[in-house]
Amino acid sequence: MKIHGRHYRTIFPAEDGEGVSIIDQTKLPFDFALERLATLDDAAVAIRDMKVRGAPLIGATAAYGVALAMMRDASDAALAEAVRVLGATRPTAVNLHWALARVERRLAALAPNQRIRAAWTEAEAICDEDVEQNHAIGTHGARLLAEIHARTKKPVNVLTHCNAGWLATVDWGTAMAPIYQAHDAGVPVHVWVDETRPRNQGAALTAYELGAHGVPHTVIVDNAGGHLMQHGRVDICFVGSDRTTAAGDVANKIGTYLKALAAKDNGVPFYVTLPVTTIDWTLGDGVAEIPIEERSAREVTHLTGEDESGAIHTVRVVAPGSEAGNPAFDVTPARLVTGLITERGVCAASREGLAGLYPDYAKTAAE
Ligand code: MRU
Repeated sequence: MKIHGRHYRTIFPAEDGEGVSIIDQTKLPFDFALERLATLDDAAVAIRDMKVRGAPLIGATAAYGVALAMMRDASDAALAEAVRVLGATRPTAVNLHWALARVERRLAALAPNQRIRAAWTEAEAICDEDVEQNHAIGTHGARLLAEIHARTKKPVNVLTHCNAGWLATVDWGTAMAPIYQAHDAGVPVHVWVDETRPRNQGAALTAYELGAHGVPHTVIVDNAGGHLMQHGRVDICFVGSDRTTAAGDVANKIGTYLKALAAKDNGVPFYVTLPVTTIDWTLGDGVAEIPIEERSAREVTHLTGEDESGAIHTVRVVAPGSEAGNPAFDVTPARLVTGLITERGVCAASREGLAGLYPDYAKTAAE
């Protein structure tokens, strides 16, 4: 993704090789600011406070967090502590646990004096694989957009929720990757961007990156999608996933489920885009089994924005004294999902569909 004419990944080793650079997403869309993570705690805070967010990017940041921890102390105890601290930052995105388990497995097999280098190499490999997988998701998803355009001869209207773009991954995004590739190939695409209260990832992040790439888009309030679908103004929905069960149930940002219900009622195809790292092969029933993060009530009661002079303010928008609840994710049952778009292709949101694309993973999980 290019910002001010320069290509950036969302996370990369700092030039001196002793830290990691991230984009502080809490400052977007008003300020594009890089921040340096130098310690395990910096990485844990960046994930918990959502300076970095989005399932794949959370996993990549956790992997680098272990590398930063190893630079101070590469003992067995320090490795276990790094995995514990980072693993406790956010509960829903399974990429976090996947990345930590992968790095821990790799390092545990090595002597402490070999761990620093191996940790950096593993974190970089996780990032490179993420970029590759997202690009492949983009290629498979862009085909669906091109088919719609070939049939309607009109711009394709895609509805998306939250931010499942470049900023949620290392590069490309998941749900946005097909859009970028279709747009770059000359397929006219317009995106309805759900603002995504309470953190406004749609309004602040998805709109920002679509704008930077030149993709036509319109930000809508979270409740507008059903109305637009009833009036034939949405051709297809693309969303991301924080955890997908082996049976095809999908946890994603709160509000995704309601969009899937509206899509089903209106015959609008509803696709979930995800890399293999987002699949939790140990789970079946997502509603019962996926842990849902409950975040601070302040994210609901307060909003931050820019005034006309360019100053940033945080204001209260809820009646003083009222309680607020903030479940951050919901689960869309597989029966509401038209298909899963993965780096290996498109499959039904079902045990059979996923096992067909991933016989290697499904078989190991069953054993
Ligand atoms: O709370 P967030 O901002 O980390 O939630 C992110 C999402 O729900 C994304 O849609 C999901 O991680 C898929 S991203 C490729």
